[in-house]
This record gives sequence, C-alpha cells and structure tokens, in this order.
Amino acid sequence: MKADFILRNIGQLITVAGSDKPRVGKEMSELEILEDAYLAVRDGRILKVAKGEPGEDIIGEGTVIEDARGLTVSPGLVDPHTHLVHGGSRENEFSLKLEGVPYIDILKQGGGILSTVRATKEATHEELYHKAKKSLDTMLGFGMTTVEAKSGYGLDLETEIKQMEVAKRLDEEHPVDIASTFLGAHAVPMEYKRRSDEFVEKVIEMLPVVKERELAEFCDVFCEEGVFSVDQTRRILLEAKKLGYKLKIHADEIVSLGGAELAAEVGAISGDHLMAASDRGIELMAREGVVADILPGTSFNLGKAYAPARKMIDMGVPVALSTDYNPGSCPTENMQFIMQLGSLGLRMTPKEVFTAVTINAAHSIGRAHEIGSLEPGKKADFVVFDAPNLDYIIYHFGISHTKEVYKGGKLVY
Ligand code: NIG
Ligand code: FE
Repeated sequence: MKADFILRNIGQLITVAGSDKPRVGKEMSELEILEDAYLAVRDGRILKVAKGEPGEDIIGEGTVIEDARGLTVSPGLVDPHTHLVHGGSRENEFSLKLEGVPYIDILKQGGGILSTVRATKEATHEELYHKAKKSLDTMLGFGMTTVEAKSGYGLDLETEIKQMEVAKRLDEEHPVDIASTFLGAHAVPMEYKRRSDEFVEKVIEMLPVVKERELAEFCDVFCEEGVFSVDQTRRILLEAKKLGYKLKIHADEIVSLGGAELAAEVGAISGDHLMAASDRGIELMAREGVVADILPGTSFNLGKAYAPARKMIDMGVPVALSTDYNPGSCPTENMQFIMQLGSLGLRMTPKEVFTAVTINAAHSIGRAHEIGSLEPGKKADFVVFDAPNLDYIIYHFGISHTKEVYKGGKLVY
C-alpha cells in the first residue's frame, strides 16, 4: 500500500510501540526509539514506522515526502486531566496564596472553585467557547493532540450542560480531540453548605440526563476533606457506573482520605492527584491496574509535596501525567513544563515521562487502541520537536520545543 505522506530523516522516532495495557515498572522506560527513521501515513493513520529510508513499497505517485532534518518525533501528547472549559480567572486569589492561605480555606470561604462557578454561570456558551478555544490552541502548540475536559463549574444541570456542550463543539471543530468528563460533584454549593448529602442526590439526578445527551464518557468526583467524603464519592460513582460511565476520582490531593483505595474498589480507570495517597491505596491501585494520573503542576503551584511517583512505579502502578489546567490550582496549559516537572519534581526519567504522557495517558482515558503510540493502524497524531533527542526536551526546561504538530496525518501547527 502506498503512503499519502512520509516524514523521513527523523533523528529519534519515539514510537512507544507494543502497549495494549498501561505500562508499569520497568516497562515505563522501555519505549521503542528508532534512530534515523521514517514514518508513513495513509488515510490519517500510521501505515509504517521503520529505520532507514522509505522504499518503493510505500512511495507512490501521490506520496508527499517531508524531511524532518534529524529532529525528534513522538506520539501526540495526551492530557488526561484538565478543567478546560470555565469562565473567568482567579489571579485575585494569588496574593492570598502567597500569604499562605490554604487552597481549601479559600474554597470554604466561597472563593476558589465556587468563584469560578459564579463566573461560569454568568458566561454565555460563546464566551466559554472562545476562552476554551484559546487554551486549546495553546495546548496544541505544546504538542497536545487529545485532551480530557471536565465540567464541574456549574454544579447545576444547566451550567454543567453548557460546559459540556462547549467541550463537544470544540471536539467537533478543533483539531485537538476531547474526551469529556462530568464532574458535577466538584464542590458543594454555598446553598447546600450543611446539606451536602442532598447535593449528592442532586448530582445523581443529573447523571442520566448527561448520559442521555451523550455529553460525557467519564464521571469524576472531588473526594477531599471538606468537599465530598469517601462515602459520598462511592455513592455517586457507583450510580454512574450503573449508567455506563467510566470512573475517575480527584483522590487524596490534600488529605489522605482513602481516595486511592476507593479508586481501586470501584474499578476506576484512573485515580488523579494522589499527593497524599497511602501505601495501602497505592498497593490496591497496582493490584487493580488503576492508572495513577499525577499532576505535578498542581504541587508546584500550590507549593505542596509531589506525589510519590517513584514509589508508585516501583510498586507497579501505571503512571500518567496531566496538566490539570484550571484557573485555581494549576493555571497553565504547558504540558512540556509538566513533563519537565515529571523529572525535576517527581524524579521520573525522561523515558518514563514520555510513557506517562503518551500510552499511559491514552489508557487513562480509554483510548489506547487509537492513540498514545505510533504503530500501524493508529491515528497519525505526532509531534516534531526542535530537539536532537528525547532527553533534551526534558532537560532544557521552561520553553516549548514544538516545531510541528500533525493530527490525523495533517499539519495542524
Ligand atoms: O484538580 N481539586 C479540585 N479541582 C481542581 C482545581 C479546580 C479549581 O481550583 O478551580 C484540581 O486541582
Ligand atoms: Fe483537577
């Protein structure tokens, strides 16, 4: 079969081949790298990856051939945890944060997430769309080709739906693919302050409506002291599971509450944050194959300890990395900085980091059959980095190394 497009003269082609399960332990450093290689595309999918120069078997009359000039190519980066669609920003809380006021105390006083809820309620669909699109353009520039996006700044059905409809429209209109998550239980609204169980029932009532409108594939809960308890989280997630949602949890971000244990118990696809996860929780996640989705930008920005990534890798938990892009705990779209924090903060090797933002990230949003590695048949989503090798991308920190981004074999950046 002839290729539509071939990228030749790739210095390092990080294929991440051969991962039908998320990678664990040593496998996280065993990603396949082809030196002096090429990549061939047909009908938006990978036709072939190999060392050396492409031959007549794949070069036809219509084949376009480009020269990568010895640069580094990886699968498109996958971000499995963002709060992409929201109104407003929270720089007004920045000085409070610097004075040492805890993140969760700002929320308890009606700020934090609840302040973004107010801004999101006030914003029109169009305003939310343009703000999120701008962020998505930035993300694409950092090499992200698939992004998960959570609701959770409405806390009422109408606004939650408005957020998810924006995500759906972006998925259709923007080159970056979006995986949508319903996070109706992101905070307890002020009017339910001492009646959080009642609010839990409200969220449960929203589940079938969201499902019926095909607005979300995943259901997530912010399980945290002072937000939703382990019992409340379990109650919501088990109802969601019955309706066919895949499950995610904001687990053990600040307090060691048992979120990691719960992620394993309910069969979540990922447990996210985990800065305060217990050893028992980590062990159970490893046993159940729950992906630990770690968000080092949040630790960095909140000035908190990093999640125990090394321990997780040693204990056999598949690790993914995300930006957590949101207006409060992590206002950045820069996935390459997150990857650098993966090494500088979490002490992961550059190879482990690449595994975490490609195949393991794809597994944590249930899309590893389509994306996350460059193998024949998969979507031709890939990034050309202006870097001589994989290590360089992590070592030279704080900047973007992206030269080009291809989505479905088409140049989109
Ligand atoms: O993942 N922790 C809860 N949710 C987000 C923060 C959202 C916000 O502060 O607006 C997080 O960190
Ligand atoms: Fe989050």
